[in-house]
Amino acid sequence: MRDLSRLATPGTPEELLVRRIDFDRLPRHVGVIMDGNGRWATAQGRPRVDGHREGVKAVRATVETCARLGIEVLTLYAFSVENWKRPRYEVWTLMNLLKEYLRREIDSLVENDIRLGVIGRWRDLDPSVVRAIEAALERSRDCRRMTLNVALNYSGRCEIVDACRRIVTDWAAGKRADIDEETIGRYLYTSGQPDLDLLVRTSGELRLSNFLLWQVAYSELWVTPTLWPDFRAKDLFEAIVDYQARDRRYGTVAEEGGEPAQERRPG
Ligand code: FPP
Repeated sequence: MRDLSRLATPGTPEELLVRRIDFDRLPRHVGVIMDGNGRWATAQGRPRVDGHREGVKAVRATVETCARLGIEVLTLYAFSVENWKRPRYEVWTLMNLLKEYLRREIDSLVENDIRLGVIGRWRDLDPSVVRAIEAALERSRDCRRMTLNVALNYSGRCEIVDACRRIVTDWAAGKRADIDEETIGRYLYTSGQPDLDLLVRTSGELRLSNFLLWQVAYSELWVTPTLWPDFRAKDLFEAIVDYQARDRRYGTVAEEGGEPAQERRPG
């Protein structure tokens, strides 16, 4: 019998939701487009960057909840290649929040056996950010319980471009592989990780925003009007309950009396 008390306090709405989760059918990989920080701050008459600061609390809570649930991979969209177009002070604040998060949280991530992954063109960031990332990656290298991918200077299109470039480089070096889905998957930043099962987007926007374009092929989408700084365990439980009610057909139909389509995922 699973101890649910670490996920929700008995008698709360959270607990009712947790009881509805089938722990044998959890999404293996959850991705989150954390949106609405600016609107959250503006609604309170505060500067936009306060929304990002508050958003870090939601990051902490979501990482903790996913690890407790038993999610294998959580990917958070923290900074896209398009986000450079924001005001300089906002970009500077976001970079500092990231450095601070890595420095402050790495001990707790390692204690909880959570491995950090950073996806995107993060080596092009400011050297101080790159150093903080490298140190955190090294510290959590051997952790196994969950992988936390932070998408930084990320673009789904750039990821596919980078994969193609690396394939061509390897070809030139004599390391040739068939060009098929399996090979391209191996050259993506998320190589070795399962495709995205559940994509959560906050703040009600119905867009992919260049996030995990390859890995999202068969994902279930769940959009909530909740703004990211307000996102907590209850919202995640709702997303998972809803995900588990979906019929994931992968383009097929269930045969009468046969195995459910969900078990027949290609490749
Ligand atoms: C989108 O909200 C949010 C971002 C571009 C940044 C997300 C960053 C954090 C939550 C903090 C740092 C992250 C980590 C992993 C420590 P928005 O600003 O576009 O909101 P708006 O649409 O309301 O303007």
